[in-house]
Amino acid sequence: MERPNWAPGDIDLERPSVARVYDYWLGGAHNFAADRAVAQKTLETMPELRGVVLNHRAFLRRAVRYLLAQGVRQFLDLGSGIPTVGNVHEIAQTTDPGAKVVYVDIDPVAVAHSRSLLDGNDHVSVLQADVRDWTGVLASDEVDKQLDFDEPVAVLMIALLHFVSDEDDPWGIVGGYRDRLSPGGFLAVSHAGYDESDIESDASVQARRIYDRNVTQMSFRNQAEFTSLFKGFDLVEPGVARVPAWRPESPADVEESGKRFPGFAAIGRKT
Ligand SMILES: C[S@@+](CC[C@H](N)C(=O)[O-])C[C@H]1O[C@@H](n2cnc3c(N)ncnc32)[C@H](O)[C@@H]1O
Repeated sequence: MERPNWAPGDIDLERPSVARVYDYWLGGAHNFAADRAVAQKTLETMPELRGVVLNHRAFLRRAVRYLLAQGVRQFLDLGSGIPTVGNVHEIAQTTDPGAKVVYVDIDPVAVAHSRSLLDGNDHVSVLQADVRDWTGVLASDEVDKQLDFDEPVAVLMIALLHFVSDEDDPWGIVGGYRDRLSPGGFLAVSHAGYDESDIESDASVQARRIYDRNVTQMSFRNQAEFTSLFKGFDLVEPGVARVPAWRPESPADVEESGKRFPGFAAIGRKT
């Protein structure tokens, strides 16, 4: 298979990756045939999946705009993905060119593409790291260069934590980042999940099975499990919501949440 010039030499083109499958779903171009095959198969099984991922991305934009309105100018974007339209630094630096962002992702393509896009932008750094290693991330040169934890910092975990299993303790990981924040810092999370009262469609069960087998095992969480990620934070209005229903921007968003969107979103302010 031909290796495009943006693909780092050490990655296996035959093995689908979380970041590249997501990039395909979002309409991006940084993916390989193996990624596209799985992405298409899941979309054929569950056509509404594309709307689901676009809703997580739309929540990211609304969250960053909300945080900017609260005066936040520093962002730690964990599991930031392959850059596409509407990245955190683009939104933040439109409001304040001095806004600081650190992007963190485990995926080499996401990191290489982020670095090439951000070349020359002194207020943004990119770190290749596993977010589960919160001590390593927080002690990194990239975080040290950009973020002043005496001032409000927003930690973003958008469509990330369903890739962290219960055994890896997502609650403890969030707690590690939380403890570094000063009061007035923020946490924004969106997460795949269903509530006990939801009936998951056969299409969703099948799409999940394809993804779990071919890409990685996902951990869906219910509303109570999601809410408990925010220990030590006050949830801002409207609290925990279905992803499209968190401060929706159009009536279509609300309509969709009425259909029991498979995922939750919230923002908390550290107390
Ligand atoms: C579904 S994408 C979401 C990307 C972005 N946050 C967005 O909302 O568009 C999840 C991202 O998390 C990254 N990821 C998954 N597990 C990770 C880990 N343990 N450490 C760092 N990044 C991780 C993947 O590589 C992928 O880029």
